Amino acid sequence: MHDRRDEFLAAIDAAHDLAALSALESSLLGKSGEVTELVKGVSRLPKEERPAAGRAANELKLALEARFAARRAALEAQALDAALSADDFDPSEPPLVAAAAAGVRVPVPRRRGTLHPITIVRNQLVDLFTSLGFTWQDGPEIETDWFNFAALNIPADHPARDTQDTFWLDDGNLLRTHTSPVQIRSMQRFAPPLKVIVPGRCFRAETVDASHEHSFYQMEGLVVDEGVSTANLIHTMKTCLRVILERDVKVRLRPGFFPFVEPGFELDVNCPFCNGKGCSVCKHSGWIEILPCGMVHPNVLRAGGIDPERYTGFAFGMGLQRVVMLRYGIDDIRLFMGGDLRFLSQFDGVTR
Ligand code: PHE
Repeated sequence: MHDRRDEFLAAIDAAHDLAALSALESSLLGKSGEVTELVKGVSRLPKEERPAAGRAANELKLALEARFAARRAALEAQALDAALSADDFDPSEPPLVAAAAAGVRVPVPRRRGTLHPITIVRNQLVDLFTSLGFTWQDGPEIETDWFNFAALNIPADHPARDTQDTFWLDDGNLLRTHTSPVQIRSMQRFAPPLKVIVPGRCFRAETVDASHEHSFYQMEGLVVDEGVSTANLIHTMKTCLRVILERDVKVRLRPGFFPFVEPGFELDVNCPFCNGKGCSVCKHSGWIEILPCGMVHPNVLRAGGIDPERYTGFAFGMGLQRVVMLRYGIDDIRLFMGGDLRFLSQFDGVTR
């Protein structure tokens, strides 16, 4: 019978739709199918013929099963393609429904998604800071003027408000322009010693280009205790950059102005692309501005209900996109929100 092998295989390849394929499958491999009968018949052969005949029958059965599976996958893909390009195709219909309507058993290839690069770096930062005793705090994306500005020592007429390009809502609230309002919320909630990080989304009315987005991610950090100093700040920042950039980094502090810190700094890192020699990424300066930070202003401690005579603190506000761009050598911030799978699938394999 296995001289009919080629005939069977050709019949499988010729099955023109899923129904024809299933009918052929049961006529060959079903309960009383031709090939099934053949396998059963082996036991009725003379003893000395059984081993060879049994092997041959089994091989035939396996070959046919494999060919059925391949043909079915091809027909399913065709059916799905046809369903997706049909005139009445409804793109809002869930893929499983579309596949079922096309008579497809295994709907779409099951491809696992990947973590977004911002999530990957955020998780790494959260792991690091929680290992240092920080807790993760969340705050609302819709904030009041008081939390976003006034409590952070930015009064109504302060010029610093202009640099924040705020999205205002009709009810007088706003989309938070930074994660700093959660400094105040955390101080109201916990007594010192206080160590929190706040990863979260922020919004500014920016014109979008290669380095600006209207929605972006920051990670705020706040430490308040007795005797907290600038040395603690620098050490924490260096540790953090070393973990994220996976190398020892040189940093420098420049004065930076933010009304909620005094003194305030811009922390620069020695350009990891050229080791400080100067390249296009660092605009030939050898340094990359990465982390605004500073010692918490006494007015801010007061707004959070903490006595500035007794406690001091430091705070930082890391732009997560910026860190991710540095870490992976990404040169256009628009890629993060663009949804292009060719970009996103490059981060396959990172599971946390
Ligand atoms: N909130 C500031 C910003 O968005 C960053 C910052 C945070 C600066 C904490 C100093 C201390 O630009």
